[in-house]
Amino acid sequence: MNRILIGAQWGDEGKGKVIDLLARKSDIVVRYQGGNNAGHTVKFNDRKFVLHLIPSGILHPGKVCVIGNGAVIDPEALFEEVAILEKEGIKIRGRLFVSDQAHLIFPYHKVMDRLKEESSQKGKAIGTTKKGIGPCYADKMARVGIRVGDLKSLDYFKDRLAYVLAERNVFLKKIYNAPPLSFKKVFDHFKKYRAKLLDYAINTPKYLFDATKAGKDILFEGAQGTLLDVDHGTYPFVTSSNATVGGAITGSGISPTFIDRVIGVIKAYTTRVGEGPFPSQFPPKLMKFIQTKGEEFGSTTGRPRRCGWFDAVIARHAARINGLDEMAVMKLDVLSGLPELKIATSYKVNGEITQDYPNAIFEFSKAKPVYETMKGWAEDITKARKWEDLPVNARRYLKRLETLTGTPLKIISVGSQRHQTIFL
Ligand code: GDP
Ligand code: IMO
Ligand code: MG
Repeated sequence: MNRILIGAQWGDEGKGKVIDLLARKSDIVVRYQGGNNAGHTVKFNDRKFVLHLIPSGILHPGKVCVIGNGAVIDPEALFEEVAILEKEGIKIRGRLFVSDQAHLIFPYHKVMDRLKEESSQKGKAIGTTKKGIGPCYADKMARVGIRVGDLKSLDYFKDRLAYVLAERNVFLKKIYNAPPLSFKKVFDHFKKYRAKLLDYAINTPKYLFDATKAGKDILFEGAQGTLLDVDHGTYPFVTSSNATVGGAITGSGISPTFIDRVIGVIKAYTTRVGEGPFPSQFPPKLMKFIQTKGEEFGSTTGRPRRCGWFDAVIARHAARINGLDEMAVMKLDVLSGLPELKIATSYKVNGEITQDYPNAIFEFSKAKPVYETMKGWAEDITKARKWEDLPVNARRYLKRLETLTGTPLKIISVGSQRHQTIFL
């Protein structure tokens, strides 16, 4: 069975934990968009791993992991991650493949990401991770990107890099009055990683096609989330890739006819890191409480995540865009102890009530959530392992989320550890 797992909010929903759970029943795990802007946490047996670029399935011995053509790769970050995992006793060789069509992140992408963010006027910065993601995808679309497979011919690579870097250096000087990057330094930097990277590089679409034909089960690991999708998210406060279901298709080269199920991962409340509108954001005191209790600090940048009530308008949007077959609701335990819980069921925009997510950012930023209130529960639920173990108000809350999103719940997470999970 081939399954795609998608973040249904603004990222950090707990995808890493769910991938780790589902990887047991898969043969191959594929990352297909984004880069090391992602941070996917997996915890078991008092061990904690944060995966940035390598699929979270790597923690299961014997599973094969693929970084697809739609992902962007910073070789320095990739090999740092490989080294960390190997030090922890995780075998990588022979289990990790990288698409020869994936685009490379160059130092000038990171410099440009940082300078653009730092020089933006108030209200214009995106709050990126500064990993060079946006500039790298922009080059891909502008047809001046350089791909992993280009390293096979050092002459071709050298020629492309010289061509692109010359232009970038003019841009850096004229727009930001920044010093140029040395061709030799950038070239030598990549030459250092060349052989290592090519060792992992294969034709991943063919590999995945053959695997499917051979009856292997593939799990597609989405990064970021629906509202960060460059088309369907809160543009321009988004990432630069397709974090929704279509991204898995173009980003891996698999045909949609090979996909069996699409799974959404969603927090029992909402969080967002970086800039951009957030209608159901908590008032400061509650924000602090949930941030602390839910340990809501970025897995990649350490920045505090903004927190808010469950927003059923964006969740419905995610269910629709991704055609979610089922949902995993995460971090329910964090809501224990709140006397009442609010859910944003619709928005008031320009005096009108709407059930639908407004696509224009100038409307979304004006959206005032319309809340319904439910009773909370006081009990600690971190030891619940089946539906019946949950307090009745927790069950009512979950049932309401199911109804509001029109998506069946299959997994409920009540703690960060592997075993703190209820399967329905
Ligand atoms: P991802 O980017 O979607 O993989 O999510 P992150 O790893 O960035 O953030 C999710 C955080 O929540 C991590 O620190 C997880 O360990 C933690 N987490 C996942 N599920 C649960 C849960 O059910 N309860 C609690 N308390 N923490 C959880
Ligand atoms: P995972 O996979 C949460 C956010 C950044 C910023 C915007 C653009 O762990 O859920 P970028 O560096 O991608 O150009 O930043 O997207 N962002 C994420 N937020 N989780 C992520 O990944 C994110 N990856 C990027 O904070 O607002
Ligand atoms: Mg994360």
